[in-house]
Order: sequence, then C-alpha cells, then structure tokens
Amino acid sequence: MWHILHHKLKDFYHSDLELTQTLPCQVSSITFFQSHLKFLKKKEKKRKPTIEISVSCCEGRNLEMAEGFLFNFAERILVGLASLAHQELGLPWRVKAEITKLKDTCSLIKGVLRDAEEKQRNHNHEVTVWLGQLKDVLYDVDDLLDDFSTEALRRQILRRNEMVKKVRVFFSKSNQLAYSLKMGHRVSAIRKRLDKIAADRTKFHFTDSPVESLLEVKERDQTYSFVREEEIIGRDDDKKKIVKLLLQSELEENVSVVPIIGIGGLGKTTLAKMVFNDKNVGEHFQLKLWVCVSEKFELKLIVEKIIEAATGSKPERDLQMETLQNILRDNINGKKYLLVLDDVWNEVREKWLNLRNLLLGGARGSWIVITTRSGLVAEITSTVLPHELEGLSKSQSWSLLKQMAFKEQSHESNGSHFEAIGMEIVEKCKGVPLALRAIGSVLFTRTEAEWVKVKNNIVKYITQQESGIMPVLKLSYDHLPPHLRQCFAYCSLILKDTEFWVEDLIMYWMAQGFIQPLSGDQDLEDVGHEYFMDLLWKSFFQVAEEDDSGNVKRFTMHDLMHDLACSVAGTEYCIASLEAENADERTRHVLFEDELDASWKILSTLHKAKKLRTIFLPDGSLNQSICNALISNFRYLRSLNLSFSGIERLPHSIGKLKHLRGLYLIGNENLKKLPSSLCRLQNLQTLRLSGCSDLENCRGNKKRGKGVGELRELNGLNNLKGKIRISSLKNAIPEPGSSYLKEKLNLKHLKLSWRNEENDDDDEEEEEDDASNEKSELVFEGLEPHQI
Ligand SMILES: Nc1ncnc2c1ncn2[C@@H]1O[C@H](COP(=O)(O)OP(=O)(O)OP(=O)(O)O)[C@@H](O)[C@H]1O
Ligand SMILES: [Mg+2]
Repeated sequence: MWHILHHKLKDFYHSDLELTQTLPCQVSSITFFQSHLKFLKKKEKKRKPTIEISVSCCEGRNLEMAEGFLFNFAERILVGLASLAHQELGLPWRVKAEITKLKDTCSLIKGVLRDAEEKQRNHNHEVTVWLGQLKDVLYDVDDLLDDFSTEALRRQILRRNEMVKKVRVFFSKSNQLAYSLKMGHRVSAIRKRLDKIAADRTKFHFTDSPVESLLEVKERDQTYSFVREEEIIGRDDDKKKIVKLLLQSELEENVSVVPIIGIGGLGKTTLAKMVFNDKNVGEHFQLKLWVCVSEKFELKLIVEKIIEAATGSKPERDLQMETLQNILRDNINGKKYLLVLDDVWNEVREKWLNLRNLLLGGARGSWIVITTRSGLVAEITSTVLPHELEGLSKSQSWSLLKQMAFKEQSHESNGSHFEAIGMEIVEKCKGVPLALRAIGSVLFTRTEAEWVKVKNNIVKYITQQESGIMPVLKLSYDHLPPHLRQCFAYCSLILKDTEFWVEDLIMYWMAQGFIQPLSGDQDLEDVGHEYFMDLLWKSFFQVAEEDDSGNVKRFTMHDLMHDLACSVAGTEYCIASLEAENADERTRHVLFEDELDASWKILSTLHKAKKLRTIFLPDGSLNQSICNALISNFRYLRSLNLSFSGIERLPHSIGKLKHLRGLYLIGNENLKKLPSSLCRLQNLQTLRLSGCSDLENCRGNKKRGKGVGELRELNGLNNLKGKIRISSLKNAIPEPGSSYLKEKLNLKHLKLSWRNEENDDDDEEEEEDDASNEKSELVFEGLEPHQI
C-alpha cells in the first residue's frame, strides 16, 4: 500500500499527498519542536524543506467574550477553578483556601449575571461599567488558571522525560516555596478584586435569573402580505422564477416547499410578498395564507396563526391541540393552497416535521414558501432547490437610494455631484435594500457637503442608526449560542474583503480556547469545523472556494456582517491605528490595518494594552527591535502573527510566552533560524513556517552533536498528536531501515509534498536516475505512518 502511494506521489508530484487517520491524543511538545525542525536542511540551497506543524493540546479551557457571553465565561472559569484541586501542584493549604473563596465568589456573581447582561442590553450605564470590571478580573483569573495548568503540564513532562537532575532542582523545597508564594499573592490579589465586585452587585438589585433568559431574543414586528409594488426596485427575475415554480403542474408531492434564503434586510420578505400578490398566483391557488413565524416556533401558536389566516378569525383561546389540528385540517385538506411562512429560525428538524405533517393534506400542487436567513432551515424544509437571493445591482441600488433621499418628482440627483458620491455610498451597501433605505433616509434633503460626510462615515451610519440595518442583523447574532458568539466576534479581526482560510480561522479560535468539545475524545479541529459550518449555515460567512469533495476551503464575510462582528466585539477587540493610539487597558486582541512603514509607533499604540492575547500585524517590514519588544512586553499572548514582517530572527525571549498557542511566521524569507527557547512553549498548538525559505534548523542543543538534523530525531516522539505537513521532501536525507512515524499512534493528519508547495508553478525537471529513485523510496519507506 505504502509503495503504491509512494509511486503515485512521484508520478504526480505537483499534487500533495494527504493521509488522514483517526487516533487518540496527548502531546509532548518540548522535543517535538526541536526534532521537527531538523528537516530544514542547511545544505540545500535552492529550496529547503519546510514544515507546518499543528498540534492539538487537550486543554481548550480559557475563554474570552464579546457581547452576551459573560455568563458562559464565568461558568468555564468555575469549572477551571474546580479542576485545580485535581492538579498536582503541591500548593499549601492557604493558597488552596484562597482558591476556594475565589470559586465561591465567582459562583455568587454568576448567579446574577444573566439579569445583569439583560440590564446592560437595556443600556444601563452603571451596570455596563460593573460588567466591564468583572470581565477584566475574569480575564485575569483565566490567565491565572492557564498559568497553573501550564505549570502542571511542565511538571508532567519533566517527570515523564526523566530529566533527573532538572527534576531534582525543579522540585526542590526552595523552588516549591517560591512558586507557592508567588502564586499565593496573585490568587489573593485577584480574590480581593472579585470580592469588591461581588459587594458592589448589591447596588443593582439583580435577581437570580433562570438559565433560558439569555437566549431570549427581542420580539420582532409581525409582517403582513401587503406591499406597494411601485416602491420595489428590481427583483422581477426572482419573482418570475418563483412564480413559475409555483404554477408548474408536474409535481410529485402534494405539498412542496421552497425556501428563500439570504442575510437580514436583503429583501426576502419583500420578494415573498411580490409572489403572494401576483395575479396568476392568486388565480392558481384556492387558498392563500400569510403567516409570520419569527422566533417562536411553537406548533400550537403556528397552527392558530394558520387557522386565523384561513378563516379570518382567531380560534377560541385555550383550545386543545387536538381540536386545533382538526380545525386546521378541515380548512386546508383537499385544497390547493399557498402558505408563506415568513421569517423562520427553527433549525430543529423534529419540530418542523411535526408542523409539516399537519399540512400534508393539501391538494396536489400546494406550496409552502419559507423565508429564512439560515441555510440549515432551508436544508431541513426544502423539497426543491432553495432560492438564494442576491443583492441588488449597482444601478438598482442607486435607484433605491435616490428614491429614499430625494422628494418625489425631484430632479436634484440628475447629472449632479450627488450621483458620484451616491455611487460610492452604494458600493458600501453591497446591494442590501435595508442598508440602502437606512442610509437613504439619513440623506433626505441633505446638502452635497453633508452627503460627503455621510459617505466618509458610512460604517458609523450603518452601525449606529437605531432604525438602521445593524439592529436587524444583530438579531442573527442574538440567536447564536454563546460559544458561537465569541467565535463570530473574533472575526472582527479579519480584514475586510479578504478570502480567509477556514483552517486558519479554526486555529485562531483554538488558540483563544473558544473551542469546547462536549466530550474528551472529540478532536478540537473537528469541533472547530462544526462551529464554522454552523456560522456558514446561518449566513454569517460566504463560501469563496471549495475543494473537489465540496469542503469549504476559503470563505469571505459580507461587509455588513463584518460591521456586525465589529459592533458586537466589545471593548476587548481593537482595530488599531498607529496614528490614533486607540488600544487601551481593556484591549485583548489587536489588529493593525495600516502599513508598517512606521513600525516604531506600534509600541506607543499598545503601551496601555499590557494584557494582549492576539497581535495581528499587516505585511510590511517590522523593525527587529520592535519585534523583540513586542515579544518581551506581551506575556499573555495566545496568537502572534508576524507573517511577511521581514524579521531576521526571533528573540530568545519568545520562550517566555508560555500562554502562546499560535505562532505565524509565514513568508519571512530572511528568517535564518529559530531560537532553542521555542521548545519551552508547551502550549503551542500551531507553528506556521511556510515560505521561510532561508530557515536553517533549530539548533537548540548543540551538545547533542551529530544526530541533530536527521530524520531519526523523530523516533522518540511517539506522543505526537495532530498534524504534520512536510514539503520539499525531495531534499530529505534517507536512512535505510528507519521508521519515523509508524509508532505515532496519535498522529491525525500527515501531509507530504515531494516538492515545495509554495512554488508549485516551478516546473524544474526532476532527474529520474536510479540513485534518485532509490533515495525517494527510502525516504517514503521511513515515513510510513501507523496502520489503522
Ligand atoms: N427590491 C427592493 N426595493 C425596495 N425596497 C426593498 C426591496 N427589497 C427590500 N426592500 C425594503 O428593505 C427592507 C428590508 O426588506 P425585507 O424585510 O424584505 O428583508 P428580509 O430579507 O426579509 O429581512 P429579514 O431577514 O430581517 O427578515 C424593507 O423595508 C423593504 O421594504
Ligand atoms: Mg423578512
């Protein structure tokens, strides 16, 4: 089998070989990094093998929050505090007692958090300040817990690797005492801060609120079927397509279902109204029913609404379901009906099937039209291909903007400068009618200068206007469970208009501890992928590229969805500007958008933001001393992206970033070597090195001498988990009879590329002599993985 793969790979060396195996977990990362980087051979001048490593550690505990998931955060912190008792840290009883107090206070506060968050949503300023202070302390508790678990992991590794001398020094009494003292002080300082916050809560008279209340979403206005078609711009083709579908006679099912799907404010309801009021549709169906479903998908409620639509009067109150379903079926059975279920959010198939079963008695040719933002709703309900609604064209958008911004019969817009400014505004509304209407009404009777002002602050107008698009889009966010809220908020750090790799996003989420598997044997990447697909189904993302099997590889975010992510992200996220110095003490994640021509300003921009967990820098040239300062100043980093920054070396102090999970160094062509201290990063999950073409090796331990830099270094690393990707394998040095990967039962993905993936357009001829064949055979024999 392995021989066949090897030959295939040689034959098609432009493509990658990817083997996937499902295996259990655990990791030893110290030796892991040293050894893997040995693939980077010094001798090869042209293209050195590069490796991408992604290791999943078991912990995914520390959490962050944007709007509306503080409760969830507190809950996770409590679990972390409780599990401290099981870690072998040899803490004295005084420290343990402090931790217990901390846990009790945390639990007390958690009890009122739902009520507090509700009050915050109703714009209670004092509560918002109180929650902000609490959030800050919880972040610190989270860092503390991460410190404890890192320490526990370190002790485990030292013991496991039987580093006798080190273990003796490490576990010496004086060392233990110093550690306990240091941590004791930290715990008690945090405990005091939390006590104060707990005491302050009494001022607000919060109530212990039930669990469900967080997911309560504000009720929307009921929709109705009337529409003034003169006000509708475009949509004729969409209407024709759906009407044609409804009027066709060759149908297999009695009742068919077509969903109209698209993001909030795109015009789904409006299109459904146009279809509902179409003359031919009116003549075709015996019965037409318009029902606004919205958030509450309760069978009884919906049946009552359908009866009301069919009979013109509400059924009596308190009727049994049995009676209601009889009335419903009496009214629709045997009739060819059209039922519009507007604004459906229910994604539970069982609930849908219960309703559908009551509706199946219609005559052949009956139709249900559903409008929804969710791809999953479409998936569970549709019997035909869903109608995916697109944005209005630019000229249609301009017509709508004009209609809203100028008085009827007014010709002010023609040939004036308004049109040029208007077209730029239109560009930013991305064809979403609700956004165009909202901005259009702001522009009503305004001067040309005021139009320019609006154009320059379009995001502000889109996000802040009470009656604008943001509250409408935010409904989608309010429907998300807490774990997806923080994942979505993190997407505010993605640059607008970029196609983003799904795999990268999942790694970023993992680094922040956002991914919470439901059971211990679930793989973090797999759970992360489920999160991604959930958000994709709910229209937060759009597919940009799929692989041959239909898996999404890259995605984009609609501009308005990006604005939504920014508006819900909260104070801990910051799109930093070198000029504005807008990062502050509360900032935990920072993205620099500006070019880095003045990289020295980064430090002054970030000087208050001591507790950063994410730093994403733009491409550019980062001054080496700034790079060093960044690494030594921000000890709490989880993700550090220094890709394409032009740095030549990583400082030794990188080893002190013990919380670091993701280090991205892609495209740093001048980076010569990695410091040995990298091996101290026990929590590191992802190290991206592709395109670091000048990298030699990780010569961390010179004393080890001759063996360093050879494939055999892999032999001892049998606890490896996760993914290894090795490219330019043709440069590897083979060793007869070796077996580097066979014992690595926890390896899940292995990606081997014969040539350099970064240069796949390079069509340099491969010498096909016997010696080279023999060499490659040996390399692949040695890399044979574990058999399932
Ligand atoms: N083609 C159009 N021309 C003019 N106005 C439109 C058009 N489509 C929609 N609108 C207006 O935009 C607003 C939003 O439209 P609609 O309610 O149909 O969106 P939706 O997709 O159903 O949103 P949601 O997901 O929130 O239910 C409404 O005020 C509607 O009148
Ligand atoms: Mg709607």
